[in-house]
Amino acid sequence: MPDHIPEKTPANTAADMAAKTANHRLGPMRCPVSLADVDLFGPGAQEHWYEAYPILHREAPVLVLPGEGLDGTGDAFVLTRYADIEQVVKDPERFTPVMSLMVAELQAALDRGESPPPDAARFDLALHSACTLRPTLALWRAHRQELTDPWVGPGAKRHSKMITRVADELIDNWINRDDGDGKGTVEFIDEFARPLPQIVMARVLGLPLADLPRLAAWGQAQVAQFVYGRGHMNQLSAEETAEQAGRIKGFAEYLAGHVTGKRARPGDDMISALTQIHYKALDRKLSDAEIIGIIYLMVLGGLETTQYALEEAAQLLCNKPARFRELRSDTGKIRAFTEECMRLRAPTQGLSTRVTTQDEVFQGVRVPAGSILHIRFAAGNVDPQQYPCPYEFDIERKSPGSHLSFSQGPRTCPGAGISRLEQVIAWERFCARLDGLEYADGNTFEHQSGIMLGTLALKLRFSKAALPDQP
Ligand code: HEM
Repeated sequence: MPDHIPEKTPANTAADMAAKTANHRLGPMRCPVSLADVDLFGPGAQEHWYEAYPILHREAPVLVLPGEGLDGTGDAFVLTRYADIEQVVKDPERFTPVMSLMVAELQAALDRGESPPPDAARFDLALHSACTLRPTLALWRAHRQELTDPWVGPGAKRHSKMITRVADELIDNWINRDDGDGKGTVEFIDEFARPLPQIVMARVLGLPLADLPRLAAWGQAQVAQFVYGRGHMNQLSAEETAEQAGRIKGFAEYLAGHVTGKRARPGDDMISALTQIHYKALDRKLSDAEIIGIIYLMVLGGLETTQYALEEAAQLLCNKPARFRELRSDTGKIRAFTEECMRLRAPTQGLSTRVTTQDEVFQGVRVPAGSILHIRFAAGNVDPQQYPCPYEFDIERKSPGSHLSFSQGPRTCPGAGISRLEQVIAWERFCARLDGLEYADGNTFEHQSGIMLGTLALKLRFSKAALPDQP
């Protein structure tokens, strides 16, 4: 059964349509029926992204945004075909990541003896750290292999027990609720999907749980650009940028204290490991500033993304109760379930993140060298040329992890390992401890603004399993 709609797909479930109709009423933007109506970036666009994608695939698989190129010159181009996106993200030499351009710009400024403005968020410690630790593709790979993979990439498996414990403790907080009919109500985002990645990342990094409220606030300050930024580049005004940098500044000081402490007395956590490691690729230790830069990115990338993946997956379960029954009866399907959810509801819908180094042609559209490409991961995931019946939820799909939600190629998301693990464990614990999950009354399904796909709240009703399995 389809969970995202488009016209010409007749077999929507009543629950799917109820949810979507609510969304449509909320967005100030009309549901697009033709290309002229499509605006992926305006206020309320979130409510209609999945109606826009089939229109784009049919009529403008490369959408030109006139005058919205880099630095306000030239055009920007939105790629929506899977094959185009795959080609671009797998070839960082031909399609330069924007971050590499910023690193080069920073390096040139430093070489000229200029000190970047301290309040400019784009010249923050994460960029400095990228500048010194991974200015080239080879060093980018080494950075991942040596510094992040052991903690948030393939090595994340070491956190399985911890993640299971965190998930169970969160469930403990509400599992015994009873509304008087044998079922309880939970605010799924506040009471599970948001705290899970927050607590997990704090534990991975080795930061005290008592600091969670502050860490969450810094995390929110970091993602502000992707929530409140305008246009395809998520731009903030100069005042907003300065304000954001100010809010994040306290974070650097806070982390500096922990880095110093852990250098002297290392524990079993990622920050401690970074203070001790001999970074083979550069044959040296890491500076405090470099470690803080790495941690910044872990917090920026590691919180809301996984929250939204969990929240959208919960909706896909509630849309069709048989799905939860299927997972409970065969928990081996949970991994495929999470991948299909991320394919169908990409948490990061798109990023303006690559620049062409030579003239290109995509789908017959000429794209000059130096053009910014908005990579629409979510649209690539529902490209009918890649996936048969792309809007249908199909847990049996071949290559379930082939979606673009984490991107692909050498610059793919370094935190995919831990995010996947959190999602799988979360649903394993739900399957073990609940025997039913449904929407509660009062959901508006209103999405938050910005480039992430996620609702602001999600109230669910659950029934507790009679004989819960032990983890
Ligand atoms: C469902 C969860 C997640 C999604 C959908 C997601 C998606 C993405 C995407 C699309 C990119 C851009 C890659 C490119 O430009 O080719 C990215 C980059 C990144 N992600 Fe994730 N991500 C998720 C979870 C995480 C987690 C848990 C972490 C950290 C623990 C993380 C850390 C990062 C970082 C640091 C980058 C920038 C790349 C770099 O500096 O090396 N992400 N992510």
